[in-house]
Order: sequence, then C-alpha cells, then structure tokens
Amino acid sequence: MIKREQVYEGKAKKVYKTDDPELLIVSYKDDATAFNGLKKGTISGKGVINNRMSNFFMKTLEERGIPTHYVEELSDRDTLVRKVEIVPLEVIIRNISAGSFAKNYGVEEGVVFDSPTIEFSYKNDELGDPLLNEYHALALSLATCEEIATIKEYAFKVNDELKAFWVRCGITLVDFKLEFGRLLDGTIVLADEISPDTSRLWDSNTGEKLDKDRFRRDLGGVEDAYIEVMRRLTEARQNKQ
Ligand code: TMP
Repeated sequence: MIKREQVYEGKAKKVYKTDDPELLIVSYKDDATAFNGLKKGTISGKGVINNRMSNFFMKTLEERGIPTHYVEELSDRDTLVRKVEIVPLEVIIRNISAGSFAKNYGVEEGVVFDSPTIEFSYKNDELGDPLLNEYHALALSLATCEEIATIKEYAFKVNDELKAFWVRCGITLVDFKLEFGRLLDGTIVLADEISPDTSRLWDSNTGEKLDKDRFRRDLGGVEDAYIEVMRRLTEARQNKQ
C-alpha cells in the first residue's frame, strides 16, 4: 500500500490517502505540542516509538474484543488504518489524580481513586477542548446515546487491559486519552493512538514520570523516558512469548 495525497496534518501525525478509499496511512512525527499548540518542540525518535507502541496495544485490544482502526504496520513511522469519522470527543480515563483533574478540583496529584473515572472533552481546538458531560454531547449531536454507551464500555475495558499490561512493566497507568471513530457502516472503533503522548505513566517504584509530562513541564530527559517505556514494553512482550 503506498501513500497518496496528504489529507490531514495534525500536531503529532500526518494522514494520507491510499488507493483504497476505506484505508488511510497514518505517519507519526517527532513533533510535540502542549497547551493547545502554544508550546512546540521535537522529541527525537518519538514517532517511531509511538507508532510501534500504539500498534502493539491496538493489536492486543483487538484480540481482547475491542474493535480498532488498526490494519497493518507498514514501517517505523507508518501504519495502515481503516478510515473512520472521528467522534469529536476526547475520552479520558483516570485511575489516579493528576493534571487537569488535580488542578480543576483542588486535589494533589497521586490520589488513587476507588474506581476509575471517565470524562469527555469536546475535541475542538478553537474552543480549547472544553470539558463536557454526556448530555452536552447529545445536545451538540456529537454522538448518539448508544454510541456513548459503547464508548464508555470500551474505554473502561481498555483501562483494565492497559493497567494490567503496564503493571508487568513496573509502570502505573495514571490516566490516558482515547478517541473513537465510526466506520462507514457506523460501527464504533478505537482510533487515534495509545502512547506516552496520550497517557500518564509513572514508575511504580519511584513515581518518576515516564511520559509527555516531562515535555509539558520541562522536566528534561524526555527522549530517555520514551525509550525507557518502550524498552520495558518490549521486555514484557518477550517474557510473555
Ligand atoms: P489532563 O490531565 O491534562 O486533562 O490529561 C489527561 C490525559 O489525557 C493525560 O494522560 C494526557 C492526555 N491528553 C492528551 O492525550 N491530549 C491532550 O490534548 C490533553 C490535554 C491530554
């Protein structure tokens, strides 16, 4: 499958047409942004790591009954995916307080919740991705009631799978963001990516941040954190086989 015309360039990925109208190629960049594009930078090697990591999780989740957009890894940075219409909701699952949750609700980071929480924000850069609830999503016709129910069910299942996997890597899954899409027939599938760009990953022993917060908060050692997470993931995969 070869890349045709570029259809979209996002903050971290480019998307290309292919000769099949139902398939697209996603190409992962090293570009990083934060605070709705206000902060810009490069994380060298990130595209390769995020591509491989996201594909590994998508494949694993498919095997566990969660439909995804993933088709085939084409190269270090390029992946063939099914074309979807993205549901304009950022779906965030949290196991531990951090980031905007800690800030908005006045709690310190690191409070472990009795059960995971879910929240939605409206995927709209102009509005700064505002937080909204399910009724807002219905009022804005962003998704149907049935779609929201499916998305919630999948998101919590993804959390169970990811949490269990990261434990094996000595990593605590604090929170993460998912995006879903509709196939041509309306089926909801998991789309976008699962990576240290879209997850908070803390070393289980030391609490060290091993994710994009190192870039967002100028903590240094950004590249090394991505490499370390990928190293542990690869080791855990090999141990299982
Ligand atoms: P938050 O605490 O800043 O709301 O972030 C929650 C999770 O969502 C965190 O794992 C990082 C991820 N995230 C994205 O993937 N994209 C975004 O634009 C933002 C703000 C957060």
